[in-house]
Amino acid sequence: MSTSNNRSGSTKERFSRFGFILAAIGSSVGLGNMWKFPYITGENGGAAFFLLFIVCLVLVGLPVLLAELAIGRNGRASAASSFVRLGGGPAWRGAGLLQVLTPFLILSFYIIVVGWTLHYAILAFSGRLFADGDFGGAFTAFSSSYWPLIWQAISMVLVGLVIAKGVAGGIEKFNKILIPSMAVLLVLLMVRSVTLPGASEGVSFFLQPDFSVLTPESALIALGHAFFSLSLGMGILMTYGAYVDKNQSLGTATVAIGVGDLLYALIAGLIIFPTTFSFGIAPDEGARLVFIALPAAFSAMPLGSLFGGLFFALLAIAALTSAVSILEVPVAFAKEQWGWSRTRAVYTVAFICFLFGVPLALSNGLVPGLMIGGRTLFDWVDFITANILLPLIGLLITIFAGYRWKNVAEASGLRPVWFRLWLFSLRYIAPILMLLVLLYTSGVLSI
Ligand code: PHE
Repeated sequence: MSTSNNRSGSTKERFSRFGFILAAIGSSVGLGNMWKFPYITGENGGAAFFLLFIVCLVLVGLPVLLAELAIGRNGRASAASSFVRLGGGPAWRGAGLLQVLTPFLILSFYIIVVGWTLHYAILAFSGRLFADGDFGGAFTAFSSSYWPLIWQAISMVLVGLVIAKGVAGGIEKFNKILIPSMAVLLVLLMVRSVTLPGASEGVSFFLQPDFSVLTPESALIALGHAFFSLSLGMGILMTYGAYVDKNQSLGTATVAIGVGDLLYALIAGLIIFPTTFSFGIAPDEGARLVFIALPAAFSAMPLGSLFGGLFFALLAIAALTSAVSILEVPVAFAKEQWGWSRTRAVYTVAFICFLFGVPLALSNGLVPGLMIGGRTLFDWVDFITANILLPLIGLLITIFAGYRWKNVAEASGLRPVWFRLWLFSLRYIAPILMLLVLLYTSGVLSI
């Protein structure tokens, strides 16, 4: 158990080299990879979009990722304080606090979805998911019952228990077990999926390049998703960076995390589309695709409850490892700000975040009045964080690392050629593109 004043800079709170990379991949591989990426790829020209996504990842995603890690490692503080410690003036404290508030808000609704995945995994394994054929109706009935609240509480407790065990004993251990398990499940499900009759049609929908459907909008979608998928702008990599050994190469780690994220997303697409196409189910958007279209496909497959159960277990693991990373951000802040023990910080933050999430969970159907301007409270928190706060924070990070931070060259640990390329992106490419994403997602700019 942690001792009382175990601050984020103390020697006890450290990742091993490999453990850090796994933990960062655990954070980046989440529901974004499993359903959002395959869906937007299929809709935006398959492999053409995939290539665009890689370009966005390399031009903007990885430079910002490296900036977050470098700021975190050199600041050796919570995401709220690193900017100030590295020479940002008092105004940068505001940017830091925004980086703690945002993950808190994201966790409040993300943990609800974690609960859905756990519930569906159990339903699928037990075969009850397939009892009656109306999967849309079953999802609506579930989300307007009390069950999501119960699962939300269970998920928050699970995530809290991991974080309470600390950086090496909790976060790192959890990911060391779950990331390889996730890889095994992914490969197993991919083999099942691509060998289904008619699977090749799904593979072509996902991967056949069609450059004619690419629009400027696709580029903004690709960019926004590259950002979300790498867990940027959420204070996570900055917080994790503070636990990284000073001799570890951040450049190598950045590339490993990017490749990991990309691979998991690619395989997820190779599970989802062959499966849905093989059973003649239209690939539908977002939550519907995962919680409605896929159960329909699994119900028609031999050994469907086994494969369906494994698929939802995979989703649950992906979501849990991301949720763990995001809870660590406000926890590290509470420890630093109020001198709390890890245990106290975890239970207080998790409990408040759970309470904040209750009206969001209720707004999905149980209490029909909880809508504002045509959106549920749940959708509002999702919308504001993903479309406004994340790109705004991304912009601030590039400005800080590109223009404000004096010691940036040494802190990055990059060789001169790489450093110049990185700085060029942080100064000229990333901020402009982040600003465009912000204007577009907030509705100021329309294409
Ligand atoms: N990268 C995650 C994903 O793809 C985003 C995320 C991280 C969301 C942490 C919530 C918490 O789903």
